[in-house]
Amino acid sequence: MSDHHLTVVDHPLVQHKLSIMRDKDTSTSQFRQLLREISQLLAYEVTRNLTMTTKQIETPMQMMDAPTLDGKKLALISILRAGNGLLDGVLELIPSARVGFVGLYRDEETLKPVQYYFKVPEGLDDRLVIAVDPMLATGNSSVAAIDLLKGAGATNIIFLCLLAAPEGIDRMKEAHPDVPIVTASVDEKLNEMGYIVPGLGDAGDRMFGTK
Ligand code: URA
Repeated sequence: MSDHHLTVVDHPLVQHKLSIMRDKDTSTSQFRQLLREISQLLAYEVTRNLTMTTKQIETPMQMMDAPTLDGKKLALISILRAGNGLLDGVLELIPSARVGFVGLYRDEETLKPVQYYFKVPEGLDDRLVIAVDPMLATGNSSVAAIDLLKGAGATNIIFLCLLAAPEGIDRMKEAHPDVPIVTASVDEKLNEMGYIVPGLGDAGDRMFGTK
């Protein structure tokens, strides 16, 4: 499913892997491995519209104008800490991308984002910026992260996540209508604690085994 603002990657491999990740009995190592695999499949989708050029090469048979990426600069921005789980897989597919980090944690009482780290590549205005965070829940931290990236000059941003709640999508649409969202699933809702349901629990805890 896709509209201008939201793309849901409903590929069977993505959905199958996601179901295993959601299962509470899936181990930390399996969870991490699946996240790595899904992020590569999502990276495939998120880079679908990269601009192409051609380069003359010689195959063993003849010369040809071969399609290549036109070298447009990319920046991957991980929204810490759970973003790192998505980052690794994406980076494997796009190894030349520059990488930045936005450190935000969610105040468990107010559910508001608190910034503790910000380090991004130079020249964001000249790059396609892919911001990654597995969970688009309330949208508070995603909106805050995009605010910071725009403040640092980014004008061409895509937000990549694994799961999104309708509430978070609405919040992002309202605050940043120019930032398309790519996700593997739009879940039912948020619970009273701000967790996505059915969801997969705390993505950071599940990938790092901290609970
Ligand atoms: N962050 C998570 O890790 N999980 C949720 O369900 C919501 C926010």
